[in-house]
Amino acid sequence: MTRFSGRTPPLTPNRLAQAIAAVRAEGRPILDLTDSNPTRAGFEYAADLLTPLSDPAALRYDPQALGTFEARRAVAADYRRHGLEVAADRIVLTPSTSDAYSQLFKLLADAGDEVLVPRPSYPLFEHLTQLDLVTARTYDLEYHGSWSIDFASLERALTPRTRAILVVSPNNPTGSFVSATELDRLAAACMERRIALIADEVFADYELEAGAARSAGRPLRRDDVLSFTLGGLSKSAGLPQVKLGWIVVAGPPALVASAIERLELVSDTYLGVSTPVQIAAPRLLESAPSVRRQIQERVRANYRWLQSAVTEAPSCCVLRADAGWSAVIQVPTLESEEDLVIRLVTIDSVLVHPGHFFDFPRESFLIVSLLTPPSTFRAGIGRVLRHFTCSPASERVWPT
Ligand SMILES: Cc1ncc(COP(=O)(O)O)c(C=O)c1O
Repeated sequence: MTRFSGRTPPLTPNRLAQAIAAVRAEGRPILDLTDSNPTRAGFEYAADLLTPLSDPAALRYDPQALGTFEARRAVAADYRRHGLEVAADRIVLTPSTSDAYSQLFKLLADAGDEVLVPRPSYPLFEHLTQLDLVTARTYDLEYHGSWSIDFASLERALTPRTRAILVVSPNNPTGSFVSATELDRLAAACMERRIALIADEVFADYELEAGAARSAGRPLRRDDVLSFTLGGLSKSAGLPQVKLGWIVVAGPPALVASAIERLELVSDTYLGVSTPVQIAAPRLLESAPSVRRQIQERVRANYRWLQSAVTEAPSCCVLRADAGWSAVIQVPTLESEEDLVIRLVTIDSVLVHPGHFFDFPRESFLIVSLLTPPSTFRAGIGRVLRHFTCSPASERVWPT
């Protein structure tokens, strides 16, 4: 038998995946409240939206490791929507945010080095770090009516092998921005240890509470700490299939210059960003507002509706979120989270994610995608909440 690396362990379906497969095998439709793929969520994409990808200029291959200057300039100009001035020569294009993480781990860490990741957060970190032979150590986010970083846990997680602190702002799935004060403390921790800050801002366009982004700390504004801010069309334009992400490098000029030089070497080794998408980038960014607006309206409307629906089930609550595509519902622990989500899918044919998928340190939390079409969202949430109300489901009137 050929030996495979320990980085790619065999995948075994978990209990929830098995339960979903069993319901589907019976031909029963499932109300899926977990889908975060915008292209499957009923938004209107103009039929000619991707025409710029067939520009004949892309017939000529002229590889540029950091990306074409025109595409980088278009990304820089797009930051003006957020009142941020970014220089095009500090932008590195990548095929996706996941690829951006991989490039940054190659830039900053050797095998066995560590990066700090928030908990709860995005489950892919486990794989992204493992595939680059980096160890992820967690620091905690705490909820007390809103989310904040538990700095004591961050201090405990730092070791001499830490090479970067990762923040996701707004975070998936908690929807919390890193505040300006938190950013000051993070920057101080990074400078003291001469390590970098990586800020994943892919959901920054999707405020759930108007004005929430104003109090967010934005690392790319700072020139005291080396930082890498990640963004991409996947979320900002609702186009994950187009495969264009970026890294904005900020910090002390000499450090920025050496980081970019080294990133150029990494990018040049793979040359992963296609020519058609770079040529199309300015026009794709220009046409992004149409889908972005639809997504913004959907996530806000679903979030508002959820907040009012939950008042019918007083033992449950929706955790406060600033922005993003998901909502967290805290529910009473009458059984294990896993048993609950399996029961919901098996008996009620409704799919939600358990909090432990996102590494919530305790139970019970359910995570739902706010991208879900409203009729499915309302019907599915109704089926979830009726488990936690006293009166029979048939008597409940859910807000419309
Ligand atoms: C926080 C966060 N970062 C990055 C990504 C992936 O983005 P991309 O499609 O650009 O790899 C996701 C996808 O869900 C995400 O939730």
